[in-house]
Amino acid sequence: MNKETPHFIFKEKKLEENYREFERLCEKHVGDYVIAYSIKTNGFGALINKLHELGSNFEVASMEEIMKTPEKSKVFNGSCKTDEELQMAIDGRFLINVDSKSEIDRIVKLREGKEFNVSLRVSLDEGKFGFESNKLEGAIDYCFMNNLKVIGLSFHPGTQKNFRHYGDYVRQVEKVIENIKDKVELKYLDIGGGFPDKIQLKNLGVKLEDYFELIASLKKFNAKIVFEPGRFLVADAFELITKINVIKQKDGKNYAILDAGINLLSKITLAKYWFEKVQNSDSDNKPPHSDKQNENEYILAGPLLFGNDVVGRFKGNLKEGDLMKVTNVGAYCFNLAWEISYRKPRVFIE
Ligand SMILES: Cc1ncc(COP(=O)(O)O)c(C=O)c1O
Repeated sequence: MNKETPHFIFKEKKLEENYREFERLCEKHVGDYVIAYSIKTNGFGALINKLHELGSNFEVASMEEIMKTPEKSKVFNGSCKTDEELQMAIDGRFLINVDSKSEIDRIVKLREGKEFNVSLRVSLDEGKFGFESNKLEGAIDYCFMNNLKVIGLSFHPGTQKNFRHYGDYVRQVEKVIENIKDKVELKYLDIGGGFPDKIQLKNLGVKLEDYFELIASLKKFNAKIVFEPGRFLVADAFELITKINVIKQKDGKNYAILDAGINLLSKITLAKYWFEKVQNSDSDNKPPHSDKQNENEYILAGPLLFGNDVVGRFKGNLKEGDLMKVTNVGAYCFNLAWEISYRKPRVFIE
């Protein structure tokens, strides 16, 4: 079938493989755990359905995300929760990671003072909301005085974390819990997401299992460990097919202008995108790399009229009309896709 470009391809099998790998490591190193896929990473409907079928729970952060996810255990995060969202979370018995005194007060009001279980989000650095670790005890007492029982703590290290930073993060989490462990009966310890995608793991020379070996030290707190993975599960489960519409030279450089640019391959995803030429039937008949001496270097640029609409480089022979496959685009690209000059691409399921 001749599909319009650009388009995404959702690779269901890859997602399943990734989920099973993550689950296997949870079994091996953690034992008592919950996987709650972070839906902000990629909210494509068929992907959510597949994860549901595989047994995943969901981490949500807005009404939109609550409505998009199946009736299943949900972890509710967010620094901007509305009363309507909180009411839904209370009614649905989500694990609510409360991140401020105002939110405690609003839950108390919505519950009309009746008992309720909550989890508190802890901020480990200035850039993240949550209770500072030195205010945590006060927040736990305040909950207690208001008939809210703290049954969990929640942390998140940020995304695409390298191994050394992740080690520091786990030690910080341990320290915070050590300080309050006599005050709360910790049922849930939510350690968020942050696991790198496979390309990044390879670049760092580490395996996902190395991260799990660090996490295993948290088992001593006897809580169910809640994971909110995003990127690791979906990064290589999506590809983008884009067409080279124009080849041009400027200032002695070759440019291949694609019909996808930073509108779809945003830099803020922190992912390294990988470009390959899709072989057409002509070139399929030739041995690969047959014309190495005549290879050119191309700057791959997008169709937007922005100076920074450059998405990669490619060495080889390109011509107008060629298709390129971009891999490692499953995390954040689909959700962040801008509708600027072009509409959001369709997704085909493979
Ligand atoms: C609270 C929270 N949990 C989980 C994630 C998913 O992170 P990642 O895609 O790095 O696994 C995010 C994304 O930054 C997040 O903000």
